[in-house]
Formats: sequence, C-alpha cells, structure tokens
Amino acid sequence: MYGLVNKALCEMITRGHGEATWERIRAVADVDVEVFISMDSYPDAVTYQLVGAAAGILGEDVPQLLYTFGRHWVLDTAAQHYGHLLQAGGRSFREFMLALPNFHARVALMMPQLVPPEFACSDVAEHTLTLHYRSQRPGLAPFVEGLIDGLGELFKVEVQCRRIPDASEGPSHTVFDVGWSPVA
Ligand code: HEM
Repeated sequence: MYGLVNKALCEMITRGHGEATWERIRAVADVDVEVFISMDSYPDAVTYQLVGAAAGILGEDVPQLLYTFGRHWVLDTAAQHYGHLLQAGGRSFREFMLALPNFHARVALMMPQLVPPEFACSDVAEHTLTLHYRSQRPGLAPFVEGLIDGLGELFKVEVQCRRIPDASEGPSHTVFDVGWSPVA
C-alpha cells in the first residue's frame, strides 16, 4: 500500500499514545522504516504487521483498531490532506455513498500503483442502501465500518452500518446494510 496509509497509522498512534509507543510497535512489528514516504509503495505485509503489533501493545483487538483507524482516516487524514478528493466525492452522505464505487478511480489518477478496494451499491432507497465491498486484502471490513461512520460524522448524519455475514460470498466480498438519518 502507499506509504500514506502507514503514515496515517503512525500519526494516529503517536498523537494518542506518544512517540515511544509507536517506536515499540515498530520494533515488535519488525518494520525498519523510520519515516514513511506518502507516495512510495510498501508491501501490504508492513501495514498488517504494524496493525497487529499496535493492537497487541495497545491491548485492543485488531478489528477494533481498524475501526478506529477508519474513522481517523476520514475525519483527520483525508480531511487534512485530501480535502479536495473528499469534496469531489459528494455533497451529502447519500451522494458520497452512491459515488463511492468510482471514488478510488480518481485517487488512482494521482497514485498509479493503487490497488483499490471495490465498492458497489444495490437496493438504493432514500435513506438506506446495501453496500458491497470487495478486496484482495483480507480482514479489512472493520476498517470500512470505521470509514462509513466517519463519513456519517463528516456529513452530520446518524449512520447505522451492519455487516450481513450471510450475504457475503467468501472472505473477499462483504455486504453491509447502511442506513442514515439527520442527527437529532
Ligand atoms: C480522500 C481520500 C482517500 C484517499 C486518498 C484514499 C486512498 C487510498 C489508498 C492509497 C489506499 C491503499 C491502497 C494501495 O495503496 O494500493 C486505500 C485503501 C482503501 N481505501 Fe481509500 N482513500 C480515500 C478514501 C476512502 C474512502 C472514503 C473509503 C470508503 C468509504 C475508502 C476505502 C478504502 C479501503 C477499504 C481500503 C483498503 C484496501 C482494500 O480494501 O483492498 N477510501 N485508499
């Protein structure tokens, strides 16, 4: 994955737990990169090792950490560094979700080595839809849940995002029921 993902993880952990904790995580993960370059590509294993080590040291489980990272990605990283992309993604939560299947195509214009996730929407109604997530990378569904909740906060709507295990076809396809309403 592009270095900006690992860099964002480093920022989130350093901000919440200090630099020394991040250094311990990096040591346990056996990752010798001191500073990630946003636009360089790194093996996915680096990210998985860092997430696994971070969960262990912070006493969280991996899905919980990925969820928190998803929210951080939207509300901090993307808002701070990729605001133009977020803005181009839609003017409301609904618009953003409907455009999500094409979102990373725009990102790929800037990042040609991107191996993006795939999204599709079905059963679209005024305040609900079904979101399909496909990826070559296992275990990232909680990250998607965090991203969706972060988008809800960004667009000031109350989001319910529920994974439907029965509808998913194997580890590479996850289905979510997504519903939203204005924040009371
Ligand atoms: C402005 C913002 C965004 C940028 C610049 C961006 C960029 C990226 C990058 C660089 C990766 C790593 C993949 C690689 O390097 O090959 C990635 C992965 C991912 N992105 Fe985005 N992204 C953005 C917003 C979003 C949003 C809003 C969502 C969903 C709601 C999303 C969902 C994902 C997921 C699930 C992955 C994990 C990779 C996978 O599932 O295979 N991203 N994105």
